[in-house]
Amino acid sequence: MRKYIVAGNWKMNNDLTETQSLLKALKHETNSGNAQVIVAPTYVNLYPAIEVLKDSDIIVAAQNMHQNASGAFTGEISAAMLKGIGVTTVILGHSERRAYFYESDELLAQKVDTALSNDMRVIFCFGEELADRQSGNHEKIVESQLRNALFHLSANQWSKIVLAYEPVWAIGTGETASPEQAQDMHAFIRKVVGGKYDATTADNVTILYGGSVKPANAKEIFSKPDVDGGLIGGAALKAQDFFEIVNAF
Ligand code: PGA
Repeated sequence: MRKYIVAGNWKMNNDLTETQSLLKALKHETNSGNAQVIVAPTYVNLYPAIEVLKDSDIIVAAQNMHQNASGAFTGEISAAMLKGIGVTTVILGHSERRAYFYESDELLAQKVDTALSNDMRVIFCFGEELADRQSGNHEKIVESQLRNALFHLSANQWSKIVLAYEPVWAIGTGETASPEQAQDMHAFIRKVVGGKYDATTADNVTILYGGSVKPANAKEIFSKPDVDGGLIGGAALKAQDFFEIVNAF
């Protein structure tokens, strides 16, 4: 069964004190209702986040993870380290990881395999750049990102995959895909997954939209039949805004 999810990607924001106070506010205000609520603070604040959220339904996710199990990879974090503190969901392939840290589809395929072999759930981000959209190549790009990073998986493994379609031109820009553009792309993604696998896999996969989702536009975007929630950046940093987006379901 497809799940509705609203996930906050905090990126490199919020120190320890800010993390604790934002989570305390969310814990009191957020009635998860129809949607599962996820927050992704930075690594050093994952464990404190888990402590604050102990008696709540809000799930804590990591923003990234290394593909290797352990070893000489200075500055990196492994799946086992995340699982050791109780983190079992990881965001992979965010466009900022792709752009600033040169993460390719091929590397992401390895990270996905590592996450799944550790029984973790993956929120897999992908999406086209502005030039792709302008040249009409957006569907081709999105399809190739899926094919290169995820289509080696078995249909069974897709139960641990959440897709997050995030057009790069809409991330942190205030520019949002229109609800129709989001719906069209999500329907296309579902069709591509169905073509590679089967109708059940396609129907069951949760597809989030990301890119300047705000309280003012969340309801309309989430009302589209193939949009199963959102990955929220900027608006996840304010308790009231995030709370309103969660409640848009
Ligand atoms: P934004 O970020 O909501 O600030 O556009 C979304 C994301 O990067 O996941």
